[in-house]
Amino acid sequence: MKIEYNKSLKAYNTFGIDVTAAEFATITSESELNNILSKDNKNPLFILSGGSNMLLTRDLDSLVLHIAIKGIEVIDESDNHVLVSAKAGENWHNFVQYCIKNNYGGLENLSLIPGYVGSAPIQNIGAYGVELKDTMVQCEAISISSGKKQVFTNKDCKFGYRNSIFKNEIKGEYIITKVTFRLTKKDHILNTSYGAIESALLDQEIHKPTIQDVSEAVIKIRKSKLPDPLEIGNSGSFFKNPVITTSHFNTLRDQHPSIPSYTIDGEHLKVPAGWLIEQCNFKGKRWGDAGVHEKQALVLVNYNNASGKEILDLSRRIQIEIKEKFHITLETEVNII
Ligand code: EPU
Repeated sequence: MKIEYNKSLKAYNTFGIDVTAAEFATITSESELNNILSKDNKNPLFILSGGSNMLLTRDLDSLVLHIAIKGIEVIDESDNHVLVSAKAGENWHNFVQYCIKNNYGGLENLSLIPGYVGSAPIQNIGAYGVELKDTMVQCEAISISSGKKQVFTNKDCKFGYRNSIFKNEIKGEYIITKVTFRLTKKDHILNTSYGAIESALLDQEIHKPTIQDVSEAVIKIRKSKLPDPLEIGNSGSFFKNPVITTSHFNTLRDQHPSIPSYTIDGEHLKVPAGWLIEQCNFKGKRWGDAGVHEKQALVLVNYNNASGKEILDLSRRIQIEIKEKFHITLETEVNII
Protein backbone atom coordinates (compact mmCIF):
# COMPACT_ATOMS: atom_id res chain seq x y z
CA MET A 1 0.00 0.00 0.00
CA LYS A 2 1.43 3.32 -1.11
CA ILE A 3 0.97 6.58 0.79
CA GLU A 4 0.79 9.66 -1.44
CA TYR A 5 1.33 13.19 -0.15
CA ASN A 6 -0.52 16.43 -1.01
CA LYS A 7 -2.79 14.45 -3.27
CA SER A 8 -5.49 16.26 -5.26
CA LEU A 9 -8.96 14.85 -4.50
CA LYS A 10 -10.54 16.29 -7.68
CA ALA A 11 -10.89 12.85 -9.27
CA TYR A 12 -12.23 11.34 -6.03
CA ASN A 13 -15.34 13.47 -5.46
CA THR A 14 -18.21 13.70 -7.94
CA PHE A 15 -18.49 17.48 -7.41
CA GLY A 16 -14.98 17.63 -8.91
CA ILE A 17 -13.70 20.00 -6.21
CA ASP A 18 -9.94 20.46 -6.31
CA VAL A 19 -8.73 20.23 -2.71
CA THR A 20 -5.78 18.25 -1.43
CA ALA A 21 -5.26 15.53 1.18
CA ALA A 22 -2.11 15.71 3.32
CA GLU A 23 -1.82 11.92 2.94
CA PHE A 24 -3.78 9.51 0.75
CA ALA A 25 -3.89 5.72 0.50
CA THR A 26 -6.06 3.41 -1.58
CA ILE A 27 -7.17 0.40 0.46
CA THR A 28 -7.85 -2.75 -1.56
CA SER A 29 -8.15 -5.41 1.17
CA GLU A 30 -9.31 -5.80 4.74
CA SER A 31 -5.81 -6.79 5.81
CA GLU A 32 -4.46 -3.49 4.42
CA LEU A 33 -7.19 -1.72 6.36
CA ASN A 34 -6.38 -3.59 9.59
CA ASN A 35 -2.72 -2.86 9.07
CA ILE A 36 -3.21 0.89 8.73
CA LEU A 37 -5.68 1.08 11.62
CA SER A 38 -3.18 -0.65 13.92
CA LYS A 39 -0.53 2.00 13.20
CA ASP A 40 0.01 5.14 15.18
CA ASN A 41 -0.94 7.53 12.35
CA LYS A 42 0.16 11.13 12.76
CA ASN A 43 -2.82 12.59 10.88
CA PRO A 44 -6.49 11.90 11.68
CA LEU A 45 -8.19 9.42 9.35
CA PHE A 46 -10.74 10.50 6.77
CA ILE A 47 -12.76 7.75 5.09
CA LEU A 48 -13.47 8.29 1.41
CA SER A 49 -15.75 5.98 -0.53
CA GLY A 50 -17.16 6.99 -3.92
CA GLY A 51 -17.08 10.68 -2.95
CA SER A 52 -20.59 11.08 -4.36
CA ASN A 53 -22.31 12.64 -1.38
CA MET A 54 -19.87 15.23 -0.10
CA LEU A 55 -18.89 18.83 -0.70
CA LEU A 56 -15.22 19.43 0.08
CA THR A 57 -14.69 23.03 1.14
CA ARG A 58 -11.08 22.85 2.36
CA ASP A 59 -7.79 20.98 2.08
CA LEU A 60 -7.75 17.98 4.41
CA ASP A 61 -4.99 17.68 7.03
CA SER A 62 -5.80 14.00 7.15
CA LEU A 63 -4.75 10.56 6.05
CA VAL A 64 -7.49 9.90 3.50
CA LEU A 65 -8.32 6.21 3.14
CA HIS A 66 -9.97 5.53 -0.20
CA ILE A 67 -11.88 2.29 0.44
CA ALA A 68 -11.64 0.25 -2.78
CA ILE A 69 -12.10 -3.31 -1.46
CA LYS A 70 -13.86 -5.32 -4.19
CA GLY A 71 -15.81 -8.56 -4.44
CA ILE A 72 -19.35 -9.86 -4.93
CA GLU A 73 -20.41 -13.18 -3.47
CA VAL A 74 -23.57 -15.29 -3.27
CA ILE A 75 -23.72 -16.47 0.32
CA ASP A 76 -26.87 -18.57 0.30
CA GLU A 77 -29.86 -19.26 -1.88
CA SER A 78 -33.19 -21.03 -1.93
CA ASP A 79 -35.66 -21.49 -4.78
CA ASN A 80 -37.09 -18.02 -4.20
CA HIS A 81 -34.36 -15.90 -2.63
CA VAL A 82 -30.66 -15.20 -2.71
CA LEU A 83 -28.36 -13.67 -0.12
CA VAL A 84 -25.72 -11.70 -1.97
CA SER A 85 -22.99 -9.56 -0.52
CA ALA A 86 -20.81 -6.88 -2.02
CA LYS A 87 -17.62 -5.41 -0.62
CA ALA A 88 -17.50 -1.70 0.15
CA GLY A 89 -15.43 -0.65 -2.87
CA GLU A 90 -17.77 -2.08 -5.50
CA ASN A 91 -19.34 0.58 -7.67
CA TRP A 92 -23.04 0.68 -6.67
CA HIS A 93 -24.46 0.73 -10.19
CA ASN A 94 -22.19 -2.12 -11.35
CA PHE A 95 -23.43 -4.17 -8.39
CA VAL A 96 -27.07 -3.42 -9.31
CA GLN A 97 -26.33 -4.46 -12.91
CA TYR A 98 -24.74 -7.71 -11.68
CA CYS A 99 -27.96 -8.44 -9.74
CA ILE A 100 -30.16 -7.71 -12.73
CA LYS A 101 -28.03 -9.89 -15.06
CA ASN A 102 -28.44 -12.76 -12.59
CA ASN A 103 -32.18 -12.06 -12.28
CA TYR A 104 -31.95 -11.06 -8.61
CA GLY A 105 -34.78 -8.59 -7.93
CA GLY A 106 -35.07 -5.75 -5.44
CA LEU A 107 -32.44 -3.18 -6.39
CA GLU A 108 -33.57 -2.27 -9.92
CA ASN A 109 -35.14 1.07 -8.84
CA LEU A 110 -31.75 2.04 -7.40
CA SER A 111 -30.02 1.83 -10.80
CA LEU A 112 -27.49 4.51 -11.76
CA ILE A 113 -27.05 5.97 -8.27
CA PRO A 114 -23.45 7.17 -8.12
CA GLY A 115 -21.09 6.02 -5.37
CA TYR A 116 -19.83 2.80 -3.82
CA VAL A 117 -21.63 0.01 -1.98
CA GLY A 118 -19.89 0.87 1.31
CA SER A 119 -21.49 4.27 1.70
CA ALA A 120 -24.96 3.20 0.56
CA PRO A 121 -26.16 2.22 4.09
CA ILE A 122 -24.85 5.44 5.64
CA GLN A 123 -27.54 7.54 4.03
CA ASN A 124 -29.94 4.68 3.21
CA ILE A 125 -29.84 5.53 -0.50
CA GLY A 126 -33.23 5.69 -2.14
CA ALA A 127 -34.96 6.47 -5.41
CA TYR A 128 -38.27 5.88 -7.18
CA GLY A 129 -40.12 4.44 -4.20
CA VAL A 130 -37.36 2.07 -3.00
CA GLU A 131 -34.70 2.43 -0.32
CA LEU A 132 -31.67 0.31 0.52
CA LYS A 133 -33.30 -0.63 3.83
CA ASP A 134 -35.99 -2.61 1.96
CA THR A 135 -33.52 -5.36 0.99
CA MET A 136 -30.39 -4.94 3.13
CA VAL A 137 -29.99 -7.75 5.65
CA GLN A 138 -26.81 -6.63 7.35
CA CYS A 139 -23.53 -4.84 6.89
CA GLU A 140 -20.09 -5.46 8.33
CA ALA A 141 -17.99 -2.60 9.62
CA ILE A 142 -14.63 -2.18 11.29
CA SER A 143 -14.29 0.03 14.33
CA ILE A 144 -11.70 2.73 13.69
CA SER A 145 -10.64 2.84 17.35
CA SER A 146 -10.45 -0.89 18.15
CA GLY A 147 -9.96 -2.40 14.66
CA LYS A 148 -12.64 -4.98 15.55
CA LYS A 149 -15.25 -6.13 13.05
CA GLN A 150 -18.90 -5.70 13.94
CA VAL A 151 -22.09 -6.83 12.21
CA PHE A 152 -24.97 -4.35 12.00
CA THR A 153 -28.35 -5.91 11.21
CA ASN A 154 -30.95 -3.92 9.29
CA LYS A 155 -32.60 -3.05 12.61
CA ASP A 156 -29.30 -2.02 14.22
CA CYS A 157 -28.82 0.54 11.42
CA LYS A 158 -31.90 2.56 12.52
CA PHE A 159 -32.66 3.52 8.95
CA GLY A 160 -34.74 6.58 8.13
CA TYR A 161 -35.16 8.88 5.13
CA ARG A 162 -31.55 9.41 3.95
CA ASN A 163 -30.49 8.55 7.48
CA SER A 164 -28.97 5.81 9.65
CA ILE A 165 -27.05 5.20 12.87
CA PHE A 166 -23.86 5.88 10.85
CA LYS A 167 -24.90 9.54 10.49
CA ASN A 168 -25.89 9.88 14.14
CA GLU A 169 -24.91 7.92 17.27
CA ILE A 170 -21.77 6.33 15.77
CA LYS A 171 -20.88 8.95 13.16
CA GLY A 172 -17.27 8.60 12.01
CA GLU A 173 -16.58 5.58 14.22
CA TYR A 174 -16.80 2.71 11.71
CA ILE A 175 -15.69 1.80 8.21
CA ILE A 176 -18.27 -0.31 6.37
CA THR A 177 -16.54 -3.17 4.56
CA LYS A 178 -19.35 -5.38 3.25
CA VAL A 179 -23.12 -5.14 2.68
CA THR A 180 -25.49 -8.12 2.32
CA PHE A 181 -28.89 -8.10 0.59
CA ARG A 182 -31.78 -10.55 0.38
CA LEU A 183 -33.12 -10.44 -3.16
CA THR A 184 -35.79 -12.35 -5.06
CA LYS A 185 -35.01 -15.00 -7.68
CA LYS A 186 -38.58 -15.22 -8.95
CA ASP A 187 -41.98 -13.59 -8.39
CA HIS A 188 -40.17 -10.27 -8.20
CA ILE A 189 -42.05 -7.53 -6.37
CA LEU A 190 -41.83 -4.66 -8.81
CA ASN A 191 -42.27 -1.10 -7.62
CA THR A 192 -43.45 0.91 -10.59
CA SER A 193 -45.88 3.14 -8.69
CA TYR A 194 -43.60 6.17 -9.03
CA GLY A 195 -45.40 8.00 -11.84
CA ALA A 196 -42.47 8.51 -14.15
CA ILE A 197 -41.57 4.79 -14.21
CA GLU A 198 -45.05 3.72 -15.22
CA SER A 199 -45.24 6.26 -18.02
CA ALA A 200 -41.70 5.40 -19.23
CA LEU A 201 -42.73 1.72 -19.47
CA LEU A 202 -46.03 2.51 -21.17
CA ASP A 203 -44.22 4.74 -23.68
CA GLN A 204 -42.47 1.57 -24.79
CA GLU A 205 -45.66 -0.46 -24.60
CA ILE A 206 -44.24 -2.66 -21.85
CA HIS A 207 -47.18 -4.02 -19.88
CA LYS A 208 -45.48 -6.91 -18.03
CA PRO A 209 -42.10 -5.42 -17.10
CA THR A 210 -39.08 -7.46 -16.02
CA ILE A 211 -36.57 -6.14 -13.48
CA GLN A 212 -34.37 -5.27 -16.48
CA ASP A 213 -37.21 -3.17 -17.96
CA VAL A 214 -37.66 -1.30 -14.65
CA SER A 215 -33.92 -0.70 -14.39
CA GLU A 216 -33.83 0.66 -17.96
CA ALA A 217 -36.81 2.95 -17.25
CA VAL A 218 -35.09 4.31 -14.13
CA ILE A 219 -31.86 4.87 -16.06
CA LYS A 220 -33.77 6.74 -18.77
CA ILE A 221 -35.55 8.98 -16.23
CA ARG A 222 -32.37 9.71 -14.28
CA LYS A 223 -30.45 10.53 -17.46
CA SER A 224 -33.22 12.89 -18.55
CA LYS A 225 -33.02 15.11 -15.46
CA LEU A 226 -29.89 14.39 -13.42
CA PRO A 227 -26.50 15.57 -14.69
CA ASP A 228 -23.81 12.90 -15.22
CA PRO A 229 -21.02 13.70 -12.71
CA LEU A 230 -18.46 12.76 -15.38
CA GLU A 231 -19.73 15.69 -17.45
CA ILE A 232 -20.89 18.23 -14.83
CA GLY A 233 -19.71 17.99 -11.21
CA ASN A 234 -22.55 17.34 -8.75
CA SER A 235 -23.61 15.22 -5.77
CA GLY A 236 -27.22 14.46 -6.71
CA SER A 237 -29.81 16.04 -4.44
CA PHE A 238 -28.04 18.71 -2.42
CA PHE A 239 -30.89 19.07 0.10
CA LYS A 240 -33.35 16.66 1.68
CA ASN A 241 -37.02 17.07 0.88
CA PRO A 242 -38.37 18.84 3.98
CA VAL A 243 -41.11 17.37 6.15
CA ILE A 244 -43.61 19.97 7.41
CA THR A 245 -46.79 19.88 9.48
CA THR A 246 -50.19 19.68 7.83
CA SER A 247 -51.20 23.09 9.19
CA HIS A 248 -48.02 24.67 7.79
CA PHE A 249 -48.73 22.99 4.47
CA ASN A 250 -52.35 24.25 4.42
CA THR A 251 -51.14 27.82 4.95
CA LEU A 252 -48.64 27.46 2.11
CA ARG A 253 -51.25 25.92 -0.18
CA ASP A 254 -53.52 28.93 0.31
CA GLN A 255 -50.73 31.10 -1.10
CA HIS A 256 -49.36 28.56 -3.61
CA PRO A 257 -52.22 26.30 -4.78
CA SER A 258 -49.91 24.18 -7.00
CA ILE A 259 -47.50 23.15 -4.21
CA PRO A 260 -46.80 19.38 -4.57
CA SER A 261 -46.61 17.07 -1.54
CA TYR A 262 -46.34 13.46 -0.38
CA THR A 263 -48.21 12.35 2.72
CA ILE A 264 -46.04 11.04 5.55
CA ASP A 265 -48.67 10.54 8.27
CA GLY A 266 -51.84 12.28 9.50
CA GLU A 267 -49.86 15.29 10.72
CA HIS A 268 -46.91 15.57 8.32
CA LEU A 269 -46.22 15.99 4.62
CA LYS A 270 -43.06 16.02 2.57
CA VAL A 271 -42.61 18.83 0.05
CA PRO A 272 -40.16 18.53 -2.89
CA ALA A 273 -37.27 20.89 -2.20
CA GLY A 274 -36.73 21.13 -5.98
CA TRP A 275 -40.13 22.79 -6.33
CA LEU A 276 -39.40 25.27 -3.51
CA ILE A 277 -36.05 26.17 -5.07
CA GLU A 278 -37.62 26.60 -8.50
CA GLN A 279 -40.25 28.97 -7.01
CA CYS A 280 -37.39 31.17 -5.77
CA ASN A 281 -36.10 31.41 -9.36
CA PHE A 282 -32.82 29.62 -8.79
CA LYS A 283 -33.35 26.87 -11.36
CA GLY A 284 -30.79 27.02 -14.19
CA LYS A 285 -28.99 30.04 -12.68
CA ARG A 286 -25.22 30.20 -12.57
CA TRP A 287 -22.71 32.30 -10.62
CA GLY A 288 -19.22 31.74 -12.04
CA ASP A 289 -18.85 27.96 -12.18
CA ALA A 290 -21.36 27.27 -9.37
CA GLY A 291 -24.98 26.78 -10.38
CA VAL A 292 -28.38 25.19 -9.96
CA HIS A 293 -29.09 22.48 -12.53
CA GLU A 294 -31.42 23.53 -15.33
CA LYS A 295 -33.55 20.35 -15.22
CA GLN A 296 -33.64 19.59 -11.48
CA ALA A 297 -33.37 22.49 -9.03
CA LEU A 298 -32.41 20.17 -6.16
CA VAL A 299 -29.04 19.52 -7.77
CA LEU A 300 -26.25 22.07 -7.37
CA VAL A 301 -23.52 21.83 -9.98
CA ASN A 302 -19.88 22.66 -10.56
CA TYR A 303 -19.56 23.60 -14.22
CA ASN A 304 -15.78 23.45 -14.13
CA ASN A 305 -13.63 25.03 -11.47
CA ALA A 306 -15.98 26.17 -8.71
CA SER A 307 -14.55 25.93 -5.21
CA GLY A 308 -16.40 24.09 -2.47
CA LYS A 309 -16.85 27.44 -0.75
CA GLU A 310 -18.63 28.91 -3.82
CA ILE A 311 -21.06 25.96 -3.92
CA LEU A 312 -21.59 26.26 -0.16
CA ASP A 313 -22.29 30.02 -0.42
CA LEU A 314 -24.87 29.31 -3.14
CA SER A 315 -26.52 26.65 -0.97
CA ARG A 316 -26.75 29.13 1.91
CA ARG A 317 -28.35 31.77 -0.32
CA ILE A 318 -30.94 29.17 -1.33
CA GLN A 319 -31.59 28.21 2.31
CA ILE A 320 -32.12 31.86 3.28
CA GLU A 321 -34.59 32.54 0.46
CA ILE A 322 -36.58 29.36 1.13
CA LYS A 323 -36.76 30.28 4.79
CA GLU A 324 -38.00 33.79 3.97
CA LYS A 325 -40.55 32.74 1.36
CA PHE A 326 -41.86 29.46 2.83
CA HIS A 327 -40.69 29.44 6.50
CA ILE A 328 -39.01 26.10 5.82
CA THR A 329 -35.47 25.16 6.86
CA LEU A 330 -33.79 23.13 4.14
CA GLU A 331 -31.31 20.56 5.48
CA THR A 332 -28.39 19.51 3.32
CA GLU A 333 -28.37 15.91 2.15
CA VAL A 334 -24.76 16.20 1.09
CA ASN A 335 -22.07 16.08 3.81
CA ILE A 336 -20.23 19.38 4.04
CA ILE A 337 -16.55 18.86 4.84
N1 EPU B 1 -39.76 19.59 -8.80
C1 EPU B 1 -39.92 20.86 -9.31
N2 EPU B 1 -38.80 21.46 -9.83
C2 EPU B 1 -37.59 20.88 -9.88
C3 EPU B 1 -37.45 19.58 -9.34
C4 EPU B 1 -38.55 18.96 -8.80
O1 EPU B 1 -40.98 21.45 -9.30
O2 EPU B 1 -36.64 21.49 -10.39
C5 EPU B 1 -40.94 18.93 -8.19
C6 EPU B 1 -41.91 18.33 -9.19
O3 EPU B 1 -43.20 18.54 -8.68
C7 EPU B 1 -41.63 16.84 -9.14
C8 EPU B 1 -41.23 16.67 -7.70
O4 EPU B 1 -40.54 17.88 -7.37
O5 EPU B 1 -42.74 16.13 -9.46
C9 EPU B 1 -40.34 15.49 -7.43
O6 EPU B 1 -39.18 15.58 -8.25
P1 EPU B 1 -38.29 14.27 -8.55
O7 EPU B 1 -39.16 13.16 -8.97
O8 EPU B 1 -37.20 14.69 -9.47
O9 EPU B 1 -37.76 13.86 -7.14
P2 EPU B 1 -37.15 14.69 -5.93
O10 EPU B 1 -38.12 14.65 -4.81
O11 EPU B 1 -36.69 16.02 -6.39
C10 EPU B 1 -36.06 12.59 -4.80
C11 EPU B 1 -34.71 12.16 -4.31
C12 EPU B 1 -33.82 11.77 -5.48
C13 EPU B 1 -34.48 10.61 -6.24
C14 EPU B 1 -35.87 11.08 -6.69
C15 EPU B 1 -36.64 9.94 -7.32
C16 EPU B 1 -34.33 13.35 -2.25
C17 EPU B 1 -33.60 14.45 -1.56
N3 EPU B 1 -34.10 13.22 -3.55
O12 EPU B 1 -35.87 13.79 -5.56
O13 EPU B 1 -32.60 11.28 -4.94
O14 EPU B 1 -33.70 10.22 -7.36
O15 EPU B 1 -36.65 11.53 -5.57
O16 EPU B 1 -37.00 9.03 -6.33
O17 EPU B 1 -35.09 12.63 -1.59
C18 EPU B 1 -30.36 11.88 -4.36
O18 EPU B 1 -30.67 11.54 -3.21
O19 EPU B 1 -29.21 12.30 -4.64
C19 EPU B 1 -31.38 11.79 -5.39
C20 EPU B 1 -31.14 12.17 -6.65
